[in-house]
Amino acid sequence: MNKTTPSTSNALDRVLVLEMVRVTEAAAIAASKLVGRGDEKAADAAAVEAMRKAFDELYMDGTVVIGEGERDEAPMLYIGEKVGGAPGKGPKIDIALDPLEGTTITAKAGPNALAVLAAAEEGCLLNAPDTYMDKLAVGPGYPEGIIDLAKSPTENVKAVAAAKGVEPSDIIVCVLDRPRHADLIAELRGLGCGVVLIGDGDVAGVIAVTDPDTTIDMYMGQGGAPEGVLAAAALRCVGGQFNGRLVFRNEDEKARARKWGIADKDFDRIYKLEELAKGDCIFAATGVTDGSLLDGVKRLRGGKMTTESVVMRASSGTVRWIRGEHRI
Ligand code: FBP
Repeated sequence: MNKTTPSTSNALDRVLVLEMVRVTEAAAIAASKLVGRGDEKAADAAAVEAMRKAFDELYMDGTVVIGEGERDEAPMLYIGEKVGGAPGKGPKIDIALDPLEGTTITAKAGPNALAVLAAAEEGCLLNAPDTYMDKLAVGPGYPEGIIDLAKSPTENVKAVAAAKGVEPSDIIVCVLDRPRHADLIAELRGLGCGVVLIGDGDVAGVIAVTDPDTTIDMYMGQGGAPEGVLAAAALRCVGGQFNGRLVFRNEDEKARARKWGIADKDFDRIYKLEELAKGDCIFAATGVTDGSLLDGVKRLRGGKMTTESVVMRASSGTVRWIRGEHRI
């Protein structure tokens, strides 16, 4: 086994930031075999198994804090599972992961499916339960506090438009295309905003606000809470602002949240970036299908395939784009 070895005193250095890409690459490659095959479960299972195995190559004592579900629901990469090739010896790292963000996208060969993870020193990632989260995001370059989930969508759009020096009708907002967002979409269209509706994949949707090429100014709406933490980790690295508030549909979801350490007083809390992913953290993703962030896995003639990945680190702000060529 070719495990990476410890290098410096910082736990994340020791894991070697770049090595995280091997893990997302492995998951993306495995899932890519099932793109367009109409089988969400098989695609997810392939990504999970490959990611689980790839973690063993890393010199770390990792713990999954956001994963595939609870132990009795998920055979692998469940919350609390230990991962990494140096249990009890390596640096203690908390991992939030989604081996296949966009299972439906993958099954239907749609855009923006990713294999994704965030890593941070122990205790630095919010152990978000598998509930929904109200999300509000804006890219870098705005005054701190420009967005506020306690305010209405209209107030937030107006604040961002004023800071950008444009009309509210010039603002482009990305929203998940769901019936629950009908009022939000109507309110935004009432302001004249452009609304980019995405079918799935709000990790890429949130990150899109950081890339001027997407022309998306803001992200709004409810999506998965675990995906909110993953997106927050990315924004910690590249800039931008994010507000997230957990949304509970029933008592069972509240009980799950308590189990993972969320106090009742925080059920309505608006979490900012540093409260979702604090300290130093790493975000890594590999495209499964083509999308706004990354190209998907391409199988070429002659037994080769290519991957595109990104790995970012909060403490340095370094963003590395990695194109891999692999033998099938
Ligand atoms: P999966 O990878 O689990 O299919 O999640 C895709 C996704 O679109 C996320 O990006 C998003 O946060 C969540 O589902 C939204 O949930 P719902 O489909 O219930 O609206």
